[in-house]
Amino acid sequence: MKHLLTLEELSKKEILDILNLADQLKFQRNNKIEHHLLKGKKLGMIFQKSSTRTRVSFEVGMYELGGEALFLSSRDLQIGRGEPVEDTARVLSRYLDGIMIRTYKQKEVEDLANFGSIPVINALTDYCHPCQVLADLMTIREYKGAFEGLKATFIGDGNNMANSIIVGCLKLGMKVSIASPKGYEICKHIQEFTKDYPNMFEMTNDPFVAAKGADVIFTDVWASMGEESEAEIRKKAFGGVYQVNKELLAVANEGCMVQHCLPAHRGEEITADVFEEHANEIFDEAENRLHAQKAVMVMLMKD
Ligand code: CP
Ligand code: NVA
Repeated sequence: MKHLLTLEELSKKEILDILNLADQLKFQRNNKIEHHLLKGKKLGMIFQKSSTRTRVSFEVGMYELGGEALFLSSRDLQIGRGEPVEDTARVLSRYLDGIMIRTYKQKEVEDLANFGSIPVINALTDYCHPCQVLADLMTIREYKGAFEGLKATFIGDGNNMANSIIVGCLKLGMKVSIASPKGYEICKHIQEFTKDYPNMFEMTNDPFVAAKGADVIFTDVWASMGEESEAEIRKKAFGGVYQVNKELLAVANEGCMVQHCLPAHRGEEITADVFEEHANEIFDEAENRLHAQKAVMVMLMKD
């Protein structure tokens, strides 16, 4: 593993190795056992979009590993004024030991990896959110003990979160069902990916079909970062139907978990009561970003 660009390129074993190391790092942190595995290493964090969890968890994670993190807003970098990614990649490779990037186009992340000579971590693009889903998988295992035999359901937009959830859950042996409105389904590329998992994947426009027998239900905002101008149109397409609420949970399995990458819009993709009832799972999921990403950084950046 040289980079973390998508979950597609990781094997099941690599994902499990990350999750096992994440569990170990969480234990060490909880028990105040020093784990300076990246002493003196420097991570650059490029942000072209907003962030609360990603920024803080990567920065704190790097400090806890004995390294340092530099917050690089694209507003301040020359990349924001059009300096090519290939030049930025080669320059940053001379200063840093790893780059984390949150941006729009997946190609930008791939270019950074191809032109640079240091590990690159995708911290969200329009296409996928692998770091988030590693944390989600870690959380599922904490609550359910295993993956095999479980059913994961995603309700909502066929977006970056949907893509990574589908790939990560299928790779670990879970069944996956997704319900999106017409016109907002997952892209053809991910539909192709699911063909390698016959009888394990279902795509529908009906949330109740998708949620039937679910062990974990995911949702995400109706309009992602960069889609703000479509918010009203999307409200009409998703509203009243593509929502995680009590009625939907009633058709899921008993003890069904709810996961949300956050930020959440109560009253839109999830009701306030369901959110609060599942707040422990959701905030454990947010905390696990820290542990999962520390594991990724150790795997990629340790000498
Ligand atoms: N879930 C997530 O990536 O949150 P932020 O946008 O706050 O980083
Ligand atoms: N789909 C959301 C996820 C945020 C973490 C977005 O891209 O804005």
